[in-house]
Amino acid sequence: MHPNEDESVLIHKPAKMKDRLGFRIVLCSAVFIILTQNRALADFDSESHEFNSEESVGEEEWEMVERKGMQFTQNGQPFYVNGFNTYWMMVLAADNSTRGKVTEVFQQASAVGMTVGRTWAFNDGQWRALQKSPSVYDEEVFKALDFVVSEARKYKIRLILSLVNNWDAYGGKAQYVKWGNASGLNLTSDDDFFTNPTLRNFYQSHVRTVLNRVNTYTNITYKNDPTIFAWELMNEPRCPSDPSGDKLQSWIQEMAAFVKSIDAKHLVEIGLEGFYGPSAPARTRYNPNSYAAQVGTDFIRNNQALGVDFATVHVYPDTWISPCRISPAVSNSFLEFTSSWMQSHVEDAEMYLGMPVLFTEFGVSAHDPGFNTSFRDMMLNTVYKMTLNSTRKGGAGAGSLVWQVFPQGAEFMDDGYAVYLTRAHTASKIISLQSKRLAIFNSLCSWRCKWGCKKKNHTALDALLSHDEL
Ligand SMILES: *[C@@H]1O[C@H](CO)[C@@H](O)[C@H](O)[C@H]1NC(C)=O
Ligand SMILES: *[C@@H]1O[C@H](CO)[C@@H](O)[C@H](O)[C@H]1NC(C)=O
Ligand SMILES: *[C@@H]1O[C@H](CO)[C@@H](O)[C@H](O)[C@H]1NC(C)=O
Ligand SMILES: *[C@@H]1O[C@H](CO)[C@@H](O)[C@H](O)[C@H]1NC(C)=O
Ligand SMILES: *[C@@H]1O[C@H](CO)[C@@H](O)[C@H](O)[C@H]1NC(C)=O
Ligand SMILES: *[C@@H]1O[C@H](CO)[C@@H](O)[C@H](O)[C@H]1NC(C)=O
Ligand SMILES: *[C@@H]1O[C@H](CO)[C@@H](O)[C@H](O)[C@H]1NC(C)=O
Repeated sequence: MHPNEDESVLIHKPAKMKDRLGFRIVLCSAVFIILTQNRALADFDSESHEFNSEESVGEEEWEMVERKGMQFTQNGQPFYVNGFNTYWMMVLAADNSTRGKVTEVFQQASAVGMTVGRTWAFNDGQWRALQKSPSVYDEEVFKALDFVVSEARKYKIRLILSLVNNWDAYGGKAQYVKWGNASGLNLTSDDDFFTNPTLRNFYQSHVRTVLNRVNTYTNITYKNDPTIFAWELMNEPRCPSDPSGDKLQSWIQEMAAFVKSIDAKHLVEIGLEGFYGPSAPARTRYNPNSYAAQVGTDFIRNNQALGVDFATVHVYPDTWISPCRISPAVSNSFLEFTSSWMQSHVEDAEMYLGMPVLFTEFGVSAHDPGFNTSFRDMMLNTVYKMTLNSTRKGGAGAGSLVWQVFPQGAEFMDDGYAVYLTRAHTASKIISLQSKRLAIFNSLCSWRCKWGCKKKNHTALDALLSHDEL
C-alpha cells in the first residue's frame, strides 16, 4: 500500500509529468486543443515550476469556486478537492507567539498539493472567544480570522468556514442556549438552539457579522472573497430531541436561505456527517450503527433544502463502529465500511441530489487502542481511491479533507487525529499523489472536454488513473 518509486519521481521531477501529459494528449486530441491554451499546463510542464507553484494560478484566475451540476468548477475548469482540516487556526492566530503555526499549516498543506482547508469561524463565549456574548465581538480575534483568510490566499488555499458547533467545544449550541437563559428565556434543551426564535436570531446575527466582515489585511469583504470556498452552517449538526428530523430540517431551510440572502455567490453546505434518517429507510442500513438514524439528521432530505449547494459526509469508522479499537480482526470491516459509506453517498448525490458530495472529515485517532500509522495510511488510500472511483467517471464525488493537518509544535491542540506532515512521510506521499491525480483532472480538461473525452476512450482514461495502483 505504499507509493511506488515512480510516484516519488513524479513528486520531484516535473519532466516525468510531461511524459504523462504526452500520453494523455495522444489519447484525446480534443483535450489537446484546450491544453495548448491552458496557462496552468504551461507552468505544470515547465522545468522551473514545481507542482502547485504559486505562479501557476495568476491573480486573474483566483475566482469563486462554483458548482455546475455535480461538479465544482473554477475559471471553467473542474475543481476536485484534496483538502484538510485544522480547526484551531483562528485561536492560534489570535496570539502572536502561536500565529506562525497557521502559516506553517498552509505552507505544509500546499507543499503536498492541497487546495482547500476547513476551519472554525466561530468561538462562542470560550477561551479567546470571537463572539464574547451575542453580537459582541473581540476585534483582536476577528483580526486573527482575517489573518487566517489572508494567509490562505497567499498559499492558494481556499477555506470552508464553519459558523457554529453542534458540540460544546468552542461554545456551540450549548453556549447559545446559555446566552438564551441569561437573557431571560427558560430553555430546557440544547436543541432549543434550532427552534427558539431568539437563538435563531443570535445565530443569524453571527452569520451576518462574519459574512459582512471587511478583512483588515486585504480590505476584501468576506462575502466577496474567492478565498472562501463555502460557508458551513454548523459543524456536525444533530438534533436528537427530534428523531423525525423536522426541527433540524426547518432550521436548515431557514439558515441556508438566510446565508444566500446575504451572500448569493458563495457555496453553502450544512456540515452534516451523512447519517440516513426517516426519509430514506432503505438506506439506513448503510449507517454505521442504529443510533445514527435517531439523531434528527436525514442526509438526503436535509441536502434537498433550497440554498444547499453540495453535500458533506464525515467518515469515522473508528468511533462509530464498536469496538472502538483497531485490530487486524476489525481493520478490514472498518475499510469496507468506509468504501460502502462513501459509495452510497456518491450514489445519493447522483441519483437524488444532483450535487457534488465532499467528504469533509475522515481520519483515525492515534488514541485508539491498536492504532498504527500503516492503518491510517490504509484509510487515506481507501478514501482517496473511492473519490477517484467517482471522479474518473465524472461522478459526484468531489474530493475529501483529512481530519487533520498539524505542524510540529501544535501538539497541545491534538485530539489524536493530527497528521504531522513533516514526520509522517508515507502519509505525506499518499496525500501528495492524490493531489497530483486530481490536478490532472483540474488542469488538463475543461469541464466540457473531460466528459467527451471520457466517452471516447474510457479504458484509456481508466488506465491513466490507475497507473499507480493504490
Ligand atoms: C502582535 O504583533 C503585532 C504586529 O506584529 C503588534 O502590533 C501587536 O501589538 C502584537 N500583540 C501583542 C499582544 O503582542
Ligand atoms: C422554567 O421551566 C420549568 C420547567 O419547564 C418550570 O418549572 C419553571 O417554572 C420555569 N421558570 C420560569 C421562570 O418560567
Ligand atoms: C438553561 O439551559 C439548559 C440547557 O442547556 C437547561 O438545562 C437549564 O436548566 C437552563 N436553565 C438555567 C438556569 O441554566
Ligand atoms: C485598505 O483600505 C484602507 C483605507 O482605504 C487603506 O488605507 C489601506 O491601504 C488598504 N489596505 C489594503 C491592504 O489594501
Ligand atoms: C497496523 O494495524 C493493522 C490493523 O490492526 C494491522 O493489520 C497491521 O498489521 C498493523 N501493522 C503494523 C506494522 O503493526
Ligand atoms: C466504483 O464505482 C462504481 C460505480 O460507478 C461502483 O459500481 C463500484 O462499486 C465502485 N467501486 C468500489 C470499490 O466501490
Ligand atoms: C483507447 O486507448 C487504448 C490505450 O491507449 C488504445 O489501445 C485504444 O486503441 C484506444 N481506443 C480508441 C477507440 O481510441
